[in-house]
Amino acid sequence: MTLSYRHHILCLAEHPLPSLAEQRDTPFYAYSLPSVQARARAFPRALVAFALKANRYPPLLRALVAEGLGADVVSLGEWRLAQAAGFPPERVVVNGNAKSDALLQEAIAAGVQSINLDAAEEVPRVVAAARAVGKTAALAIRINPGLDVHTHPHLQVAAQGSHFGVPPEQVLAVAQAIAEAPELRLVGIHLHPGSQLLAAADWEAVVAAAREWVTRLRGAGFPVQQVNFGGGLGITYTDAPDPQPEALAEQIHRGLSGLAPLRLAFEPGRWLVARAGVLVVRVVQVKHAWGQWFVAVDGGMNALLRPALYRARHRIWPVRRREPTRPATVVGPNCESTDVLARDVPLPADLAAGDLLAVLDTGAYGASMANAYNARPLPGEMLVGESLPPADF
Ligand SMILES: Cc1ncc(COP(=O)(O)O)c(C=O)c1O
Repeated sequence: MTLSYRHHILCLAEHPLPSLAEQRDTPFYAYSLPSVQARARAFPRALVAFALKANRYPPLLRALVAEGLGADVVSLGEWRLAQAAGFPPERVVVNGNAKSDALLQEAIAAGVQSINLDAAEEVPRVVAAARAVGKTAALAIRINPGLDVHTHPHLQVAAQGSHFGVPPEQVLAVAQAIAEAPELRLVGIHLHPGSQLLAAADWEAVVAAAREWVTRLRGAGFPVQQVNFGGGLGITYTDAPDPQPEALAEQIHRGLSGLAPLRLAFEPGRWLVARAGVLVVRVVQVKHAWGQWFVAVDGGMNALLRPALYRARHRIWPVRRREPTRPATVVGPNCESTDVLARDVPLPADLAAGDLLAVLDTGAYGASMANAYNARPLPGEMLVGESLPPADF
């Protein structure tokens, strides 16, 4: 268990949060190293390229390198962080619908596993980048199969009309353009279905699309050796169990039977690290108005954007648990009416300024989306666990 109460004090990976709060100003993120390690080990044997967009904290990245994972990067900044953390280039994949020339050149020069092509229009740009560095570029075609998966509309990226990926009617022409360019080598296809998928039925549709495209491309004479299923595996954000990668791998093996040899790749972000993280905030003021208790804390949409951006629901627990409780609305300090972290949160009735609260399951898309709105400092981060001291890195 990543988080647990000991003598009514909330602990992360056995470390009491109040003692962590002595090392960092609030708001700050703390990540459990054992949780990250356990999740990294739960993925099946395949290229598992952690999506840095979910969390780019260097000590956490180094922990994933130590577990043998690769990286999925979408910007020059993420690419350089991945290099600094020690991800081997042959386990790095490059995504994005607007990759800069500098990113393309550096990644191709280093020999990354694949550049996931987002558009027919990107082909000449990759050719130019490959020529500029005098190397061949390995490419996967990111296909947008036009799927209607069950997730928040803002997290759908493989639906019809989305600005990501190559639409079905252009895929064969793109494969032909790659085949005709001596600077390019086609390694496979990429099918990121969207984020926060919980239903096995959604993956059925993704796997069926993969089967269709491997068959069609091979039938047209193009070598497809790899299917990259992107990220997307969700977590429940409650105490209900999360879907498991092993079950997904079985589903994929069933769905792609008979197509060997085929390598699999994944780009998980959320599933690997969301459960490991907690955002620690401090109560600034408790206000009674309109028949409600508003608990204003020092980190809101600046520290954790997900509730404002996606109406994401995170559990919030008091760091010092006590009874009785009463329902409260936990709000951030920013001048926006969407700066509400959560409603109807049972919190101690005597909660007061200075008390600490923990916002759960915030290891993914928390710190990485934090911003300086209202000129607030970015939240600090720390990795805590048995084999690493819970201090500065
Ligand atoms: C191309 C790609 N790969 C991987 C991911 C990671 O997704 P998740 O965090 O849902 O696993 C994303 C997220 O948007 C993505 O766009």
